[in-house]
Amino acid sequence: MHDIKVIIRTTEMQEYSERMRSVGKTIAFVPTMGFLHEGHLPLIKEGRKLGDNLVVSIFVNPSQFSPEEDFESYPRNFDNDLKLLQKEGVDVIFYPDKNDLYQDGFQTYVELENLPKHLCGISRPIFFQGVATVVTKLFNIVKPHIAIFGRKDYQQLVIIRRMARDLNFDIKIVGFPTVREPDGLAMSSRNTYLTPEQRINALSLYKSLKQSKKLVESGIKDAKRIIDAAYTLIKSHPETVIDYIAICDPETLADMETIDRPALMALAVNVGKTRLIDNMILKP
Ligand code: PAJ
Repeated sequence: MHDIKVIIRTTEMQEYSERMRSVGKTIAFVPTMGFLHEGHLPLIKEGRKLGDNLVVSIFVNPSQFSPEEDFESYPRNFDNDLKLLQKEGVDVIFYPDKNDLYQDGFQTYVELENLPKHLCGISRPIFFQGVATVVTKLFNIVKPHIAIFGRKDYQQLVIIRRMARDLNFDIKIVGFPTVREPDGLAMSSRNTYLTPEQRINALSLYKSLKQSKKLVESGIKDAKRIIDAAYTLIKSHPETVIDYIAICDPETLADMETIDRPALMALAVNVGKTRLIDNMILKP
């Protein structure tokens, strides 16, 4: 079996990465919150190809959850994660303790001016500050040459790309396509919260994206018409509460009225108590 190292202390992680860098090894990095599933594994396989050393972090980051969100109940299963990562040939699991990562007196956060004002940032006002802060910290601890993020969390990916550029991180950010269940539902750790009935209704997110793609391909350019059709489709499924459906510029995330160039369609829907997101690029 592949020899995998579990590193808990931040200083030990930094020493490991420094050692690898000093002998000319490249470090690929996949940050996660654990409870790994088939949606995470292709990113990890990609990381295996892209670096000499592959580090995966597992950390449920408290600063990206607001008090009424599911930080305490977020699913965790370290033993299973360890088994999966061992199979994938991961070199290091960085599994820090929350009190080591956020030490007493912690008060420095990374905040972007505009990108978090759209999409998920509207209903989750502290979320992207928490993500940008923890990813900055992880970058400084793991010191990767390359880091991989999923396009399923599209806004997160553009925020991290922007942050890496703005703050001169010498790290290549790679975006990986959304991994889906055979019927199209985007894979997510939160899918485990769904009852069998909710699981069926959850498919309305992907169905509405596919419907939008068809409408755009048939020549419709009016974003509002496409959004309205998606609302109607999703609302026809029980237990769905739409947070937002947006069609926007894939880089700035500003709303687009006319789809005269590739546009990002993104949506967030609560199915029962579970918040699900998905997105697709629409091309006229
Ligand atoms: P987490 O939700 O565990 O996701 C870890 C990585 O896997 C993210 O880059 C996410 O976009 C990607 N991912 C999850 N499901 C995916 C799917 N179905 N298809 C493609 N990629 C998928 O995202 C986070 O953790 C955290 O916010 C983190 C970046 C680790 C910061 O705490």
